[in-house]
Amino acid sequence: MKLKHGAATLVLGVQYGDEGKGKLVDVLAEQAELVCRVQGGNNAGHTIWVNGEKIVTQLLPSGILRENCEIGIGAGVVVDPFVLRDEIKKIKSQGYDITPERLHVDYRASVILPYHKNMDLKRELERSKNTTKIGTTGRGIGPTYASRAYREGPRIAEIASPENFKNWLKANPYLAEGLEGKLLDEFLETAELLRPYMKDLAMIANNRLSQGARVLLEGAQGAMLDVSFGTYPYVTSSNLVAGSCAGGLGIPPWKISSILGVIKAYSTRVGNGPYPAELSGPFADELRKRGHEFGTNTGRPRSVGWLDLVALRYLAKINGLTGLAIMKADVLAGIEHIGLITNYNDKRTNKEMNGYPMTQNAWDNVEPVIEFMDGWENVAVGSNLNKNYKAFVKKIEEFIDVPSAYISTGAERSEGIWLA
Ligand code: IMP
Ligand code: MG
Repeated sequence: MKLKHGAATLVLGVQYGDEGKGKLVDVLAEQAELVCRVQGGNNAGHTIWVNGEKIVTQLLPSGILRENCEIGIGAGVVVDPFVLRDEIKKIKSQGYDITPERLHVDYRASVILPYHKNMDLKRELERSKNTTKIGTTGRGIGPTYASRAYREGPRIAEIASPENFKNWLKANPYLAEGLEGKLLDEFLETAELLRPYMKDLAMIANNRLSQGARVLLEGAQGAMLDVSFGTYPYVTSSNLVAGSCAGGLGIPPWKISSILGVIKAYSTRVGNGPYPAELSGPFADELRKRGHEFGTNTGRPRSVGWLDLVALRYLAKINGLTGLAIMKADVLAGIEHIGLITNYNDKRTNKEMNGYPMTQNAWDNVEPVIEFMDGWENVAVGSNLNKNYKAFVKKIEEFIDVPSAYISTGAERSEGIWLA
């Protein structure tokens, strides 16, 4: 796929996160001048394989490995300064150049404080007593977005000057909880270290677009975890759908020229909440092992299941997908029959569910209808897709009415076929 000059391309997860967006962004970033994160924080985790070396990022966009492009952390992101400091250091030690000329962190991104992390863990502990635990990543994401909504949490702009930040804490003393003494000193030193990266990224992005740059927006998590359109309340705390992404950076929506939805050929979910596709038993264990389906971030085993075409068709519309990227079909190689969820029945009536589930109760009553297709030994030989796999891709395309653009055939950045 050729990225368009003077336009933005959006890469979105349309399952529950961990679809392989990181790899796709890394591949596309070869052509880009600017790559930006627009929501979430270090709850995300991207794994990219380059010449057998595993590179993991949480906060930095996957474009970081392409030295041809600038990278940005947009106003819609929540930033843990310690995590950003450590990640810059780690990626630098792996041989990649990160300078204030290359990395821009928007002044308006919200800051994760120890208070937010503690609050995240505390609330989860409370919820676990009455079985409503969300299974968050414990990184303070939800409380930080809540602080923003309360208009009390500091942003990058507020930590840019130690005086400002101290005054901010004086005005909102509860936010200083856990940030005293040595840790406060370390926090202020970290803010100082990060200061050269703090910019008006929104204006930089708009200027670059006017100059004809190709901009990539790297979505976080997946649309099933969107705070409005996901399986609420078992979701993350930001909007993830396409319509919100321009706002997470500060560019006009009409500058986005294509919206690539990323899926795996099967599905995974980490954390709690409805997951009608879920499989269990030895087959699920095997699939989890083959796909290395353990959280990049937290190491938690992911639940695994078949690809859910009902949810995907719904999300393709909500997000206006212009193309699909299908990842990890190689993980399914050798499995005789591959399942696809093609309908939702209602456990209460034994009939087709009436409309897309809107409540948790409705989700809990989804009985998935699974169709099976013949599997494949190899996804492709050279650039020729296996016949059965081709039929699988066609089935998805027709079901959701979106053409596929990219087929990943392995973990390395070189392993993939562009169809558009
Ligand atoms: P939070 O974003 O840490 O508040 O977690 C809320 C929910 O989103 C939990 O189910 C997490 O497991 C899930 N989640 C958050 N970030 C990711 C991600 O990058 N990949 C997959 N799941 C995620
Ligand atoms: Mg991930």
